[in-house]
Parts: sequence; structure tokens; C-alpha cells
Amino acid sequence: MAITTTHLIDMKQKGEKITVLTAYDYTTAKMLDEAGVDCLLIGDSLGMTMLGYEDTLAVTVEDMIHHAKAVKRGTKNALVVCDMPFLSYHISPEDTVRQAGRIIKETGAHAVKLEGGLTIFNSVKALIDAQIPVMGHLGLTPQSVNIFGGFKVQGKTEDQAKRLIDDAKALEALGCFAIVLECIPAPLATLVSESITIPTIGIGAGAGCDGQVLVIQDMLGLYDKFTPKFVKQYAHLNPLVVQAVKDYCEEVKAGTFPEKKHEFKAQEGLLDKLY
Ligand code: KIV
Repeated sequence: MAITTTHLIDMKQKGEKITVLTAYDYTTAKMLDEAGVDCLLIGDSLGMTMLGYEDTLAVTVEDMIHHAKAVKRGTKNALVVCDMPFLSYHISPEDTVRQAGRIIKETGAHAVKLEGGLTIFNSVKALIDAQIPVMGHLGLTPQSVNIFGGFKVQGKTEDQAKRLIDDAKALEALGCFAIVLECIPAPLATLVSESITIPTIGIGAGAGCDGQVLVIQDMLGLYDKFTPKFVKQYAHLNPLVVQAVKDYCEEVKAGTFPEKKHEFKAQEGLLDKLY
């Protein structure tokens, strides 16, 4: 069954937890969709996992479109949400609608995700007025890494916590269909989740959220540069991939791959006709 934005809200009402994973390519999206993930997010974390940057700031709308097209082609049932990258929704509401419009039209993604609350009120409003569904993102919003002074847990002070609750309520009032809560204290995430009717999707925000999201490279143990505290690795694929590639290199050099069974036969007498 194809999942829609309203399904996610229904799931919250029924107390059914929502599963979200990032995906950046066709093959992975197809596997995650077949495994029954509710929502696939083309996160701008692709800047790190796919493009090798130190953070997400250099990611462009073109990058997002390129990866989102591939994910959408691999997805049958999951809701597909595409991140709007840094500075693609900060210039003006008109520009925001133009950029998001490109993402939706060119990729077929169902919705976009933006980082921030009241500070991007006008952009979120313009998108929803233009009938583009929006997922919010509060807490440790990685595009603000230079303002935060690093990737640090947010919502720890009374002021920060109050602002986060106000932001969540504002996003709900604007018509967002869900909000990602990243790296905030678990009791605060529970309180936010209980204070709004739209689902919260947590990452480093505890079990009180209505759903969870992880970066696919992290949960499969593929990205070995750094594993955040909130990640659970459900597999350890990095050493398996490295070993498989070592085996391949060894066999090619030794001449033991390819074997006869990997070869195509030539027609009888074909080679004789060539000389
Ligand atoms: O970019 C991303 O992958 C994200 C998730 C971590 C929520 O925003």
C-alpha cells in the first residue's frame, strides 16, 4: 500500500510507530521499500555519506534532485521525502517555492523537509500554500552547525527547550505533516510529541517519539568515520565489503576469476573465419 502524508498522521493517532530511513540511490531504496519502511528520506546527509564532505553545507538542489530521482525510481510504497539543502529556502518565500517545486516536479518526491521553526515561518507557509507537503526538522539541525559551534545536543537549557516547543507548535499550526526531532533530551522529545497532533520522528531523541529515523549507512555499519551515540548498527557491512573486494582483487591477480562458468561461448568455427 502506498503511504501518504496523512497515513503518518493516522499512524500517530493509532499509536503505530513510524519507520523512516535515509536512502540516496535506486538499489538501496528498492531494498528498503521491499523491507516495508514507511518513509524514505533523501537526506542532505548525502553530502557526507555519498559525496564525502565534512558537513551538509555544500549540498546543492541539483545534488538532491539527482539522488531523489534514483530513490523515487526504486520506491513503490514508501512516502518519499527530499531535504531542501542549505540556503535553498532562506532567500525568499518565492525562491523557496521555486526550489521546492523543482524538487517535487523533477523527482516525483511527495514532500520536502526543511530545518528550522519560527525563523523559516514564511517559507514553510509559502510551500504549504503552494500545496507542497512539508516535514519540519528541529533540535540539532545540521545546516546550523556553524551557529551551534559543532554537532551538539540541543534543547538542554530552559530557553532552548521553550523555543523548541514553540517551534513545534508553529510548524503544526502551519500544516506540516511531521517533524524530525534530532539530538534533544529524550524527556523533551516526549513532551513535544505529546503536545502536538502530528508525528515526531526522532533521531537521538529517545523512544517517546512517534517514529524513528536513522541514516542508512550508519545503521548498516557502512560509514566508518564516526558512529554517533544514538545509532544502533543492525549490521556491520563495512568489513564485509572490504573483505569481498580484497578477495576479488586477489582472484583477478591470481587468474582464478573469471572461471569457465562466467564466460560466453563463441559459435563453432567463428574464430577460424576471422583469420
Ligand atoms: O539529512 C538527513 O539525513 C537527515 C536525517 C538525519 C533526519 O536530516
